[in-house]
Amino acid sequence: MPTLTVQNLPAGPISTSAGATLLASVQAAGHDWLHACGGRGRCTTCRVEVLHGPDHLTPPTEAELRYRAAGRLLPTERLTCQARLLPTAAPAAEVVVRVPRAVQLPHVQYGP
Ligand code: FES
Repeated sequence: MPTLTVQNLPAGPISTSAGATLLASVQAAGHDWLHACGGRGRCTTCRVEVLHGPDHLTPPTEAELRYRAAGRLLPTERLTCQARLLPTAAPAAEVVVRVPRAVQLPHVQYGP
């Protein structure tokens, strides 16, 4: 099963389900995650920087393209409520992300 690793959280790789958003996967793994608009693509608080495996993710949605055009989402960032692991991703596929400092929750202990 493809995995998602959040580099600056202490837990290890998270198993993902095909078609699930990254937000659903991290929440299912028990991580508290900022998502101010409730996962509707109307903020950027759920974003991550993708460090490895961006090709295993679905293409950017209209919401992500709109935020990129407005300079509110970097080309290396994805909204976890929009990005999904591709159903065609190989079982050994791995996506590595990190939570940018600006959207880290104050009560969660993040790594460097
Ligand atoms: S939770 Fe608002 S854009 Fe993802």
